Amino acid sequence: MGHILHVQGVWSFLFKMLLLTVTAMPDSSSSSANPLWGGRFAAAAAPLLQQINASINVDKRLYHEDIDASRAHAAMLAEQGIISRDDNNAIQQGLETIRGEITAGKMAFTPDLEDIHMHIEVRLKQLIGDAAGRLHTGRSRNDQVVTDFRLWLRRTITEVQNDITSLAQALLLAAAPHVETILPGYTHLQPAQPVTFAHHLLAYEAMLRRDYGRLSDCAVRLNECPLGAAALAGTTYPLNRASVAKALGFDRPTANSLDSVSSRDFALEFLAAAAILGTHLSRLAEELVLWTSPAFGFVRLSDAYTTGSSIMPNKKNPDAAELVRAKTPGLLAAFSHLAGILKGLPLAYSKDLQDDKKIVFEAVDTLHLSLRVMAGMIADMTVNVAAMRTACGKGHLLATEVADWCVQTMNMPFRDAHHLAASLVNKAEALGLDLADLSLDVLHTVDPRLNEHLKSVLTLEAAVARRAVPGGTAPIRVREALAQATQWWDQTTPLFS
Ligand code: ARG
Repeated sequence: MGHILHVQGVWSFLFKMLLLTVTAMPDSSSSSANPLWGGRFAAAAAPLLQQINASINVDKRLYHEDIDASRAHAAMLAEQGIISRDDNNAIQQGLETIRGEITAGKMAFTPDLEDIHMHIEVRLKQLIGDAAGRLHTGRSRNDQVVTDFRLWLRRTITEVQNDITSLAQALLLAAAPHVETILPGYTHLQPAQPVTFAHHLLAYEAMLRRDYGRLSDCAVRLNECPLGAAALAGTTYPLNRASVAKALGFDRPTANSLDSVSSRDFALEFLAAAAILGTHLSRLAEELVLWTSPAFGFVRLSDAYTTGSSIMPNKKNPDAAELVRAKTPGLLAAFSHLAGILKGLPLAYSKDLQDDKKIVFEAVDTLHLSLRVMAGMIADMTVNVAAMRTACGKGHLLATEVADWCVQTMNMPFRDAHHLAASLVNKAEALGLDLADLSLDVLHTVDPRLNEHLKSVLTLEAAVARRAVPGGTAPIRVREALAQATQWWDQTTPLFS
């Protein structure tokens, strides 16, 4: 026991020496109680409390936003005559110094000072003295943190949208040479009807366009400024909420102070959009896993995006696609996690809300990585047109053509035509032939009206070309869709920059 105490003593001595050598160490050691609310506390926090309570390792990512929001708040306080111009000038300069220190990696973060807001405020006091104490006038960490978080998420949404655009553009580039490349389209993963490869890729582009839109919707709704809500009830100082909101690029101040500090549905909405985007990435990843398997062989991923096996020299594995697929459940879980935190909270702020940021930060990191990896794989992949063609030989993809031909040339009701085509499929299966290779004699055993003309439409090219309804797989439609999509992604920019 004595030995342990002795060792701890050495460590705490070394730690204090270390603190003295660090330039920008916000000093929390002058009193054992907390520097922000030390007034009522004689003793220091238990180490375990500190461990569960400190969020600095997570929320240090908000330092730019925290400084931006503090600068706007202080400037408004001065404008309103609530603090002096001199104090405001000192605060503005001090905050910029701190920004530089943190960016240069000179700020030593410590759990003693709980979160990013306390680090910056305590450091500001060291730099400019008493004026620092005036910054928090008419403000609480409750409205402060949620303002920072909204600013951060607004910027992040723009970055995620830019990553989505890069992926969509990679899909469009990959699609362009394959407007007439035909592969089996599947339902239930059973060969169904022929489709064009560009059409297949454009299906994912359509999903991404909606994902982009969901993020824009979220950005519009989150763009309100909570500052002025203070701890929960508003504040007695004559703040100009509208001017701070404007200075920070918000559309307006939030409407209700209790809601302002306790709602996180802006983050939940983002996570919902992220989870949906994740499911789309996962489906595309799954296609790549299938397509690169020799059983399909439709696509080859580059060496840059595949891995080998330590034991089987023949292997080239689509690990990156598999891992994108594996990360999606994390995005779904992020939504459930935050929804779970929110659903039981009475108004207004509770500390549970501190855990919102870790969830969102991790989801954002996952999204960036997944989107970029996916774009890299798509940009590098090679398409095996011949393998796609060969795969079209299995599963009687042209059976629907027979039924449609009977309806269109013999005016047969579709149900009867379906029946007739099914008997032809049975015959072809029994003879080991494609539908197009059945002789007229065999066709006539099913219906004497079947003729050479039917045989002439039983080609993959004709089958795709005939699906020329808007949104169909016909090359003529796909060419239009590709042009329209290219223009859309070229012209679209995120709402906030
Ligand atoms: N670190 C806190 C959070 O992220 C800041 C707000 C603290 N508010 C409080 N009343 N203790 O939520």
